[in-house]
Amino acid sequence: MTSPIPSKPHQTAIALDFLVIGGSSAGLSAAYALRRVGHRVLVLEQNEDFFDRRCGGYRIPPNMSKVFYHWGLEERVRKLCLKSNMTFFNRFESGEDLGGHVWVDELMRETGGDFLFARLADIRKFLYQLGHEAGAKYRANAKVVSVDVTGKSVTLQSGEVLTADVIIGADGRDGLCRKLLLECQSAPKSTYTGMTMYNALVPGDRVRGDPGLSKFLGSAAQYVWFGNGSAGMLFEAGNDGDMGIHLYVRDEKDRGTNWNCTVEEMLRYASDAEPQQVIQKFARLAVNVSRVPVYDESDLEDWVHDDGPMVLIGDAAHPMPPGSIQGTCMAIEDSAVFAKLFGHLISVDQVPSFLYAFPDLRQERTKSIRVNEMGNIYFMAMPDDAGAIQRDAHFKARRDKNLSPLEDESGDASGLWESIKETWCYDAEDEADDWWVGWGMLRLRSQRTELDFGMEIQVSTSVQLSRDRPS
Ligand SMILES: Cc1cc2nc3c(=O)[nH]c(=O)nc-3n(C[C@H](O)[C@H](O)[C@H](O)COP(=O)(O)OP(=O)(O)OC[C@H]3O[C@@H](n4cnc5c(N)ncnc54)[C@H](O)[C@@H]3O)c2cc1C
Ligand SMILES: *[C@@H]1O[C@H](CO)[C@@H](O)[C@H](O)[C@H]1NC(C)=O
Ligand SMILES: *[C@@H]1O[C@H](CO)[C@@H](O)[C@H](O)[C@H]1NC(C)=O
Ligand SMILES: *[C@@H]1O[C@H](CO)[C@@H](O)[C@H](O)[C@H]1NC(C)=O
Ligand SMILES: *[C@@H]1O[C@H](CO)[C@@H](O)[C@H](O)[C@H]1NC(C)=O
Ligand SMILES: *[C@@H]1O[C@H](CO)[C@@H](O)[C@H](O)[C@H]1NC(C)=O
Repeated sequence: MTSPIPSKPHQTAIALDFLVIGGSSAGLSAAYALRRVGHRVLVLEQNEDFFDRRCGGYRIPPNMSKVFYHWGLEERVRKLCLKSNMTFFNRFESGEDLGGHVWVDELMRETGGDFLFARLADIRKFLYQLGHEAGAKYRANAKVVSVDVTGKSVTLQSGEVLTADVIIGADGRDGLCRKLLLECQSAPKSTYTGMTMYNALVPGDRVRGDPGLSKFLGSAAQYVWFGNGSAGMLFEAGNDGDMGIHLYVRDEKDRGTNWNCTVEEMLRYASDAEPQQVIQKFARLAVNVSRVPVYDESDLEDWVHDDGPMVLIGDAAHPMPPGSIQGTCMAIEDSAVFAKLFGHLISVDQVPSFLYAFPDLRQERTKSIRVNEMGNIYFMAMPDDAGAIQRDAHFKARRDKNLSPLEDESGDASGLWESIKETWCYDAEDEADDWWVGWGMLRLRSQRTELDFGMEIQVSTSVQLSRDRPS
């Protein structure tokens, strides 16, 4: 498969200066995307470099690889990634086989992308290189301590003041830009769900050195364990044998985020996992273990500051649950849409309406994706009650017929999302109260949820300027 020649995107008639606060998925992709349409960009990152090695494995859903392919980057992306073709499902406690699903090539082609596995650090490095080649500017060790929205400036920890035409807050869920917008809106509170996620990498050489585990290499598969209030996930993160582990566990107490956790802490939660001990064996060899609580996030009313040209993107605008297949994807989609808008700029007067158009295009989608993602986590980790029994019965019935649990009788996987949604999520909604008592609340009831395992993405490229800046 050869990459298509990237078509040159629509170029801005006037070049603006963008200051991007935060150099992770959102900030790095914004820098590249904005350079591609002819704007000037400076990215400020508080860390010493742009490739946070605490990152673990990352699963790239088809419609995100599609964004890369549209940018003419298929070949380069594929070098960093492993193309996944299977998902295996098992019970967490018993290890019982619940069947598997093959990602059929033609179907994936219909989505326009591939389901890819990588290390998030590699993806960030790649985004950095792209922007760098395109002429974006970067500063590491540049922690922003305050933002003057009306003065269009930011102050660094060093005391240095930098100015720009537009300030982009890409500093994540806990960054100062989200706080700034929360201050001037009726502050919604996010609540802890009673679930915490552990994220780790198992270095390839450790896996290869263990005959019992090396058989998991080269299969390009993803393994998912459904547990009673917990779930596990294992996949090959890229093509040099590192394995990514995601473990969702029940924990009544919010212990906060810790990027430097011990293996022992993570293992404590895997002690009752399957007799085959696949999860434990991998977990024991893990490095760079982090712990991130799962919150039921509430939505900001707006992502644009009313006092000046400042806008949020990525997790700063719409935090995704940790380990979410869509976290980085939503950040990159944001950047693609944002840059698409600003590639059409012909006058500075348009800036406010372009800024306001951005959340108009993105808010609904990111919100529904977040709800989906929470639904996916919940689907895997639902407590053992009627819902889980039904889910497992469905998986086993399909397994016994040698059929994918995610396809309908005709083998059409598009019905999959629909039918799983109908069958499982609507039940889930009815029982949402029971399910979430003691866990915190997920807003499933008022929302339609879908189970998509990361398949549903669409980059909106239509431009609707429906709002003007309030005077
Ligand atoms: C350390 C880490 C590891 C992660 N690991 C994984 C993983 O293994 N798999 C996965 O799927 N997802 C992972 N994620 C989540 C994923 O990165 C996010 O969901 C998604 O990429 C959204 O990215 P973002 O750029 O919006 O925000 P974030 O990734 O949160 O990035 C925010 C960036 O802003 C910087 N920053 C914050 N405040 C300031 C400031 N005042 N001045 C300058 N810079 C600032 C931060 O250092 C950070 O680089 C991880 C996130 C982090 C922070
Ligand atoms: C773990 O993190 C350290 C630094 O924090 C880094 O040097 C190392 O490469 C990471 N390990 C893996 C396997 O990514
Ligand atoms: C998936 O890919 C692996 C590695 O390329 C291959 O060995 C395996 O046969 C493939 N499985 C299916 C079902 O296509
Ligand atoms: C599921 O976990 C809960 C809480 O730990 C426990 O009370 C219940 O017995 C478990 N259910 C099964 C079927 O093991
Ligand atoms: C991580 O924790 C270990 C002890 O568990 C400690 O030795 C190490 O210095 C810590 N690393 C960082 C970067 O905090
Ligand atoms: C992915 O993108 C395509 C094209 O934008 C869209 O038709 C499709 O519904 C999206 N989702 C899936 C699951 O393919």
